[in-house]
Amino acid sequence: MVKGTVVLAYSGGLDTSICIPLLKERYSYNRVVTVAVNVGQRDEEIEVATKKGQKFADCHYTIDVRKRFVEEYIFPSIKANGSYEGYPMGTSLARPLIAEEVVKIAKKEKAAAIAHGCTGKGNDQLRFDFIIRAAGLDVVAPIRELNLTRDWEIEYAKEHRVPVPVKKSKPWSIDENCWSRSIEGGRLEDPAFHPPEEIYLWTVSPEKAPAKPEKITLTFSGGVPVAINGKKFSGYDLIQKLNILAGRHGIGRNDMIEDRILGLKARENYEHPAATVILTAHRDLESLVLTRQELAFKRMVDDKWSELAYKGLIYEPLYAALNAFIGTTQDRVNGHVDLELYKGGVRVLGRSSSQAIYSGDLVSFDSASIDQCHAIGVSQYFGIQARLVHAMGEKTRKNAGKQ
Ligand code: ARG
Repeated sequence: MVKGTVVLAYSGGLDTSICIPLLKERYSYNRVVTVAVNVGQRDEEIEVATKKGQKFADCHYTIDVRKRFVEEYIFPSIKANGSYEGYPMGTSLARPLIAEEVVKIAKKEKAAAIAHGCTGKGNDQLRFDFIIRAAGLDVVAPIRELNLTRDWEIEYAKEHRVPVPVKKSKPWSIDENCWSRSIEGGRLEDPAFHPPEEIYLWTVSPEKAPAKPEKITLTFSGGVPVAINGKKFSGYDLIQKLNILAGRHGIGRNDMIEDRILGLKARENYEHPAATVILTAHRDLESLVLTRQELAFKRMVDDKWSELAYKGLIYEPLYAALNAFIGTTQDRVNGHVDLELYKGGVRVLGRSSSQAIYSGDLVSFDSASIDQCHAIGVSQYFGIQARLVHAMGEKTRKNAGKQ
């Protein structure tokens, strides 16, 4: 039975490129529409995807959502200090947006199904499937369903005159958006293998970074960065500028063992210079303007937010509720953070805010605006219960336990 139109989330890479002939040959679709979504990957990647989609698919769309990605996905992540197992998450932020854009095209093209090139081993399949199924559409995942291996894919691509973009010697799987670049696969799958310099594109190695530190000032308004050294930028331009500035100093590399959603441990390499600098500054500014209670509670909220974002569960009602809470705290996250970029590291040099919960006069050892004697009264009661138990002595405590 010949089926109608299928819409394919298209990157121009090997997996999604062989999906075009596969969807016709093995799945009997008579029309394949490709969609490339621009979330800030390199221009040449978008160009390649566009050219290949136009050449090999029956119809192709390239959609630029860079501004929306920054404002609706990266900004909330900054406010939530979004990170997973210690690195600033990136791929997981872009996947739901890419899927939503593909859903829009599927509805327009009256397609009943959406295809993607994810394997059955990673997180992206779950993030895509969630959004596609929520829209009431069927999922087709040829790489996962046909259990394909990379060698088979390369052969199949050659037979179908699909250009193979990877050299066999460097078969990294790369995912890129303006917030983060991830490199995995190939020899990197051996956790003991030392990553070669060539996997990194946005950052230099700390040895090659300038011998002189660079000082910058980031200005925040409502929890998001708005200016570098007093000069205002749009969110997207600011991130791009910081990627270059901090990348030059070798900031924001991660080499780690990550626990994927399915439970598999995977060796992952990342570079995210702007994200590292912005999150360092944002956390620091929060510590100046939020109360101790807010900070402690927000840490838990941030963790839960990050878990949901990592899984791509953006329609989970709790996700909206957490965003609402985080939003109320961020109204006060305004101010400046001075930072030093140097040899792979970013360090906060100073911070200021008109909403700082900070009184130099109260805390200073040099001022007499609080009568220190008042603390004596507090001290009389401080830890009183623990003191009473402690005073019973070890023996009494043990005997009391036997009664
Ligand atoms: N492990 C990361 C995540 O799940 C990155 C996955 C990126 N995918 C890729 N094909 N490189 O968010």
